[in-house]
Amino acid sequence: MQDQLIIFDTTMRDGEQSPGASMTRDEKIRIGKQLERLRVDVIEAGFAAASPGDFEAIRAVAEVVRESTVCSLARANDNDVRRAGEAVAPAARKRIHTFIATSPIHMKLKLRMSEDEVLEAAVRAVRLARQFTDDVEFSAEDAVRSDVDFLCRVFEATIAAGARTINVPDTVGYSVPERWGGLFAQLLSRVPNADQAVWSTHCHNDLGMAVANSLAAVMNGARQVECTVNGLGERAGNASLEEIVMAVRTRSDLFPCRTGVDATQIVPTSKLVSTITGYPVQPNKAVVGANAFAHESGIHQDGVLKHRETYEIMRAEDVGWGANRLTLGKLSGRNAFRSRLSELGITLASEEALNAAFAKFKELADKKREIFDEDLQALVSDESVTPEHERFKLVSMVAHSETGEQPFASVVIADGGNEMRSEARGAGPVDAAFQAIEQMVSSGTELLLYSVNNITTGTDSQGEVTVRLAKEGRVVNGMGADTDIVVASAKAYLSALNKMGISTARMNPQYGTEQAAP
Ligand code: KIV
Ligand code: ZN
Repeated sequence: MQDQLIIFDTTMRDGEQSPGASMTRDEKIRIGKQLERLRVDVIEAGFAAASPGDFEAIRAVAEVVRESTVCSLARANDNDVRRAGEAVAPAARKRIHTFIATSPIHMKLKLRMSEDEVLEAAVRAVRLARQFTDDVEFSAEDAVRSDVDFLCRVFEATIAAGARTINVPDTVGYSVPERWGGLFAQLLSRVPNADQAVWSTHCHNDLGMAVANSLAAVMNGARQVECTVNGLGERAGNASLEEIVMAVRTRSDLFPCRTGVDATQIVPTSKLVSTITGYPVQPNKAVVGANAFAHESGIHQDGVLKHRETYEIMRAEDVGWGANRLTLGKLSGRNAFRSRLSELGITLASEEALNAAFAKFKELADKKREIFDEDLQALVSDESVTPEHERFKLVSMVAHSETGEQPFASVVIADGGNEMRSEARGAGPVDAAFQAIEQMVSSGTELLLYSVNNITTGTDSQGEVTVRLAKEGRVVNGMGADTDIVVASAKAYLSALNKMGISTARMNPQYGTEQAAP
């Protein structure tokens, strides 16, 4: 019997700390349900003390997710731990994850606390958390730069106080596999009560080694890996869930453990997270990149045709590529449409939203030969079918480009009940459309990122556009999808403006400062 490797997904907490990747309550519910379908063991749904919105989102995830454990992060203080406990209360399985920094640099400059004070706060937080649930995790933030003797003391004390999982984070992505594996070997042999906890690794990717370091920890006794879908996360991101899962599975000859993940849900989950957060997946990304299973060179193609295993170590269908063709057609009815959405974990808030989504589905089915699940995900992410936060809406637009002429766009938008029209010329039709919108809204935002990806393959695919805007330190991502990429761009721009309008202040747990986020 191999050990179970616990997959702890932190896409909705550490992943959400990426600029503009903040998720609404409904988006978290959709991701939470999909993560459950993926069969991850633990879902860290957020940081409850960050804001009332975060608290509500975690609670909502705790209400709908039944199989996976739902977890909230909490700094090692009474208020955070209580908020986390209240947020996860409705969950069938609940966890509180409390943390405090243990490195000299963090203790001295950030916390202004001595070692003894840190140790005391850690123990107190774990004890308090145990009043809400038996499933308590403790993390020593910046463990990578902490003194090992002190780490051993903190871990021994927090296990004695009731922590059942001990997480060792490489918060700044500084380690290398040999060192990281060695640290686990040391901790497991030196902490006297080490056998009373599951040891967990949490690696950041600043030097591109988050996955390698996590796997080295697994080789040395870690039985929980903290990771995110698509490797989303602070700065260069966290260890990528799909790479960890597929490495352990593909090299089962090497790893002494197995995960409970349903790998066929990997690609659908990756696409959902990308659509919701506005973080596209690079084409050559392992496992989930569009080219991960594409063979370009003639020699490779020839080899794969003769025998797939000449060049393939995993099968595309095993990770969910091509598994998601929609069997609905142009003539399908509303009920069939609703039930497919529900199979995808999507429940629209009202009959009105369902009608709007169904109308869009019909419109799309007229334009596009085949409709895939990704098309549906993009369709329901469209602001017009989730109108709760919508202020600006695209009514219609005309874009014109002709060689030798300056591109032109005329855009009509609705602002509440008012319709406005504006025209502009620009470097290209997208630039012209954005300028026309700005003439109407004068948002004062700065465009940080504009990117287009095709949602599926073929020239009839929908283009999915991401627009990242910044204003006064706040960063938001807007998404838009359409078979016409200029229309998709205008939708993405308006979606970002809408999100900017509903942004509320929330706190980053690791900076401890008020930071505005969408
Ligand atoms: O990177 C880190 O140290 C964290 C902790 C809060 C676990 O995300
Ligand atoms: Zn982290």
